[in-house]
Amino acid sequence: MPTRKAAATTLPPSRPAEVLLFKTPRPHGSLISVLDLSFEEIGQILALATLLESQDPLVRMQRLLKRKVALLFYESSTRTRTSFELAAKALGADTALISSQSSSIEKGESLKDTGITLKALGAECIILRHLSSGAPYLLEQATGLPVLNGGDGTHEHPSQALLDLRTMLAHLRAGETSVTEKTLEGVTVSIVGDILHSRVARSNALLLPRLGARVILCGPAALLPEVASAIGPGLTIERDFDKALAESEVVMMLRIQAERLAGLHLDLEDYKGRYQANGPRMAAHAPKALLMHPGPIIRGLELTSEVADGPQSLIAEQVSHGVAIRMALVARALNAAGSGSSKPGSSAEPAKNAPAASKRRRA
Ligand code: CP
Repeated sequence: MPTRKAAATTLPPSRPAEVLLFKTPRPHGSLISVLDLSFEEIGQILALATLLESQDPLVRMQRLLKRKVALLFYESSTRTRTSFELAAKALGADTALISSQSSSIEKGESLKDTGITLKALGAECIILRHLSSGAPYLLEQATGLPVLNGGDGTHEHPSQALLDLRTMLAHLRAGETSVTEKTLEGVTVSIVGDILHSRVARSNALLLPRLGARVILCGPAALLPEVASAIGPGLTIERDFDKALAESEVVMMLRIQAERLAGLHLDLEDYKGRYQANGPRMAAHAPKALLMHPGPIIRGLELTSEVADGPQSLIAEQVSHGVAIRMALVARALNAAGSGSSKPGSSAEPAKNAPAASKRRRA
């Protein structure tokens, strides 16, 4: 197991201190934390995702025709970057991708100055992935533009939590059209692995209990310090993966974030023995659970190929839900949630919010 104990203080607070210092109102349509959203807004986003997904592509493109969306990525990404870009383009927007490796960021330009530059170039919304927790708040304050957080350090990844929610609802609550504190009542979700470094874990741990889910955090002490249960209300810690599996309707596996371990050495064979989702373990303890993973997956480490490609896996389906959710978030950020409008100021359109029931056969 780990050769040194993780400092219990490495989990940052759910609201970075800088957000508390804001004096000016935040721009409409920003999404930096799941805590930004009321039940009503979550329902509107899910409804809009369903509406946009089913809309004629040529009609849908009128919503944001020639509007400008910037994608500013300081860290690598496949799913978040591509799905936000496809989502913005599906709404007719022009997109510009700025990555830290091929821009003036390499020459030392600050996040603030990069944001001001993008605004001067016409960007009306910035999708940001950054290695520092809280960076989206700084960008929002510097530019006054809506910022969509595509993952900031170990803080949050709210669009991932929303697409995870949409995936769960498609399987567990097909046909429901509202989001309340009881939507996920009776559902236990285990989030397993490197909780300490996971912004996905935090966003889900803050969102799912609000909707009535019981959330179990599971992992070794080095990747899941006791203080993690203070991320938000309704969280419990379980070190025994088999026990957590036996209680779960949903199992969310996490990658070990080698890039954030900062000198922490894990005995990977021991980790796999205790926390790997493999065929025999799933069959013995959770044969009917939904298996989720935000990606990227490391086959043979936190899960085996048998599980990743097996009938319980929703991993590819999660990715697909990401485009619909991100269309809704981009439309909301540019205030174009109303039907057919590409002009700022149009209002959100009421629609059924339940994602289509999945056709996938459960094991
Ligand atoms: N889930 C997720 O954020 O994946 P990417 O790092 O590929 O965007």
